[in-house]
Amino acid sequence: MLNIVVCVSGGGTNLQAIIDGVKEGKIRNTKIVGVISNNTGAYALQRAEDAGIPAFCISPKNFESREEFNEAFLKQLKELNPDLIVLAGFLVILPEKMIEVYRDRIINIHPSLIPSFCGTGYYGLKVHEAALTRGVKVTGATVHYVDEGTDTGRIIMQKAVDVLEGDTPEVLQRRVMEQAEWIILPKAIDQIAFGQRVK
Ligand code: GAR
Repeated sequence: MLNIVVCVSGGGTNLQAIIDGVKEGKIRNTKIVGVISNNTGAYALQRAEDAGIPAFCISPKNFESREEFNEAFLKQLKELNPDLIVLAGFLVILPEKMIEVYRDRIINIHPSLIPSFCGTGYYGLKVHEAALTRGVKVTGATVHYVDEGTDTGRIIMQKAVDVLEGDTPEVLQRRVMEQAEWIILPKAIDQIAFGQRVK
């Protein structure tokens, strides 16, 4: 059984895709042992609660310094003792210590085809705004391992999505979620749970 912790910051639609994937048997051999948010107002926390999953909010605002926040975050993770950490719309720079402790055991979903539109400053809607500004005709999503860089870790899975005439960032974001993110993130977890080699 693969025990996973999902880290979130916002709406949590990717978290929902994981919850549903486990329930429907699309993600096999996996248990969500906890959800951690850095944001008190994240709707993702409600989704976790509705699904009966232990949910924790660890906000930097409640700590004197970044170091203290990092320590509290790492402590919570250690208590949950996950085999895999899934960053599902988690908009926090991870402490280096966390990457060291959980090397090759942290994955992230990014809403573009890496190496396009990724790295510092590219998150959420900004990614889709940049794709539309550049005028690409195809975008998509990427699941990758997390290393010390921003969106630089080994790629696990990608899926392409068409950009259509008249797309707004919001419309494109939704299509990328529906046609790519909510499919490849559960699939990647399922593969990892089965110890399949991910190239
Ligand atoms: C998703 O589109 C995810 O790919 C993106 O944030 C959104 C979170 O939505 N992540 C990043 O941009 C990370 N660089 P959600 O809370 O509904 O899953």
